[in-house]
Amino acid sequence: MKIPGALLWEPGTNSGWTVEEIELDPPKRGEATVKLAASGICHSDDHLDTGDIPLGWAPILGGHEGAGVVTEVGEGVDHLEVGDHVVLSFLPSCGKCKMCVSGRANMCDLGAGVLAGTSPDGTHRIHARGQGVGAMSYLGTFAPYVTVPTNALVKIDKDIPLKSAALIGCGVPTGWGSAVYAGEVTLGDTVVVIGTGGVGMNAVQGARQKGAKNLIAVEPTEHKRDLAKQLGATHTAAGLDEAKEIVAHLTNGQGADVVIITVGVLTPEFIQPAQEMTHRGGTLVLTSAAPVNQRDIQLDLYTFAMSGKRIQGTLYGTTNAQNDIPLIADLYRRGEHKLDELITQEYRLEDINQAFQDLRDGKNVRGVIVYDD
Ligand SMILES: NC(=O)c1ccc[n+]([C@@H]2O[C@H](COP(=O)([O-])OP(=O)(O)OC[C@H]3O[C@@H](n4cnc5c(N)ncnc54)[C@H](O)[C@@H]3O)[C@@H](O)[C@H]2O)c1
Ligand SMILES: [Zn+2]
Ligand SMILES: [Zn+2]
Repeated sequence: MKIPGALLWEPGTNSGWTVEEIELDPPKRGEATVKLAASGICHSDDHLDTGDIPLGWAPILGGHEGAGVVTEVGEGVDHLEVGDHVVLSFLPSCGKCKMCVSGRANMCDLGAGVLAGTSPDGTHRIHARGQGVGAMSYLGTFAPYVTVPTNALVKIDKDIPLKSAALIGCGVPTGWGSAVYAGEVTLGDTVVVIGTGGVGMNAVQGARQKGAKNLIAVEPTEHKRDLAKQLGATHTAAGLDEAKEIVAHLTNGQGADVVIITVGVLTPEFIQPAQEMTHRGGTLVLTSAAPVNQRDIQLDLYTFAMSGKRIQGTLYGTTNAQNDIPLIADLYRRGEHKLDELITQEYRLEDINQAFQDLRDGKNVRGVIVYDD
């Protein structure tokens, strides 16, 4: 079918997105076509434009945070049918590889190919100007329809609004799991979340749900500090120095049990102050993406080692999409996890460059592209 899509023809050059007609193929074996209700604008797509995250293929159809309704299934698909409501997971899970069967589906073998720019079978479902087009995370949600592997689709109940559910495809579980699984926040903890955008706001909510006693949101943008408070932060700070003072005051100089970094771009200067804020035996969670060639950090190694701290990287918040996406949808239904409040601004697909400019300007917790019914 012929539909509009937002493509990067020259990833890594900051040249922005081109909205143009693309041709989307019907599903092959093990795939489904989904009509999307909405797509979130995650910072990771901006990293494709800036080059922080390198791509194996151009052009690429962006977008990896979406939800919608199944309109067609390919051969061999027996667990989904037309009409099902699904969230698109930005990482597929095959259910068979070592990582999947040992409960670490976020690191499924299939994840290795999500930036390669083809479907898992090495071919393209999308074409433009006579060429094969790649899809971010095998998905490409910057188009009103996607044809994707069904192991990246997670069925949800039909009473969950799809626009809100779209966020559960990446930013929500990534932030939530950064607190719940990667940070292992427990009752009574002091937790710091650095950067409360589309991902970090969910780390705040996850930490609150796990019973954090002190919850400090560090965020330069005032309206996001306000929302972080509404979502459970007990304190806010506009920068790291202010946060350090608050944490020292709250913990008698001991530091936070868990510090989570969810800023837009992970650069070296965050590491040492974040480790200084971490309690001995505590965990520093790195969720943000860093520029791919970033190798050097300053870290007080003596203190780090002798105080038994842990730096914990996390992909997708160490969640298991097939379990945790429905779980978060249920938390939303019960009012425990807020999603609607995270959507600051809605856009039409043709305004996608404005949406990314607003992301860079810090205007949105989450911007969302909404498609017609
Ligand atoms: N690990 C994963 O699996 C995974 C998944 C999704 C996104 N990410 C990454 O997580 C990061 C966050 O993504 P997002 O979509 O929430 O981005 P975002 O732009 O919505 O949010 C980043 C926030 O950091 C704030 N910030 C900037 N500088 C700061 C500073 N010095 N101190 C405190 N806060 C600061 C910004 O104001 C903004 O609110 C990105 O790097 C993204 O690529 C990682
Ligand atoms: Zn994302
Ligand atoms: Zn797997």
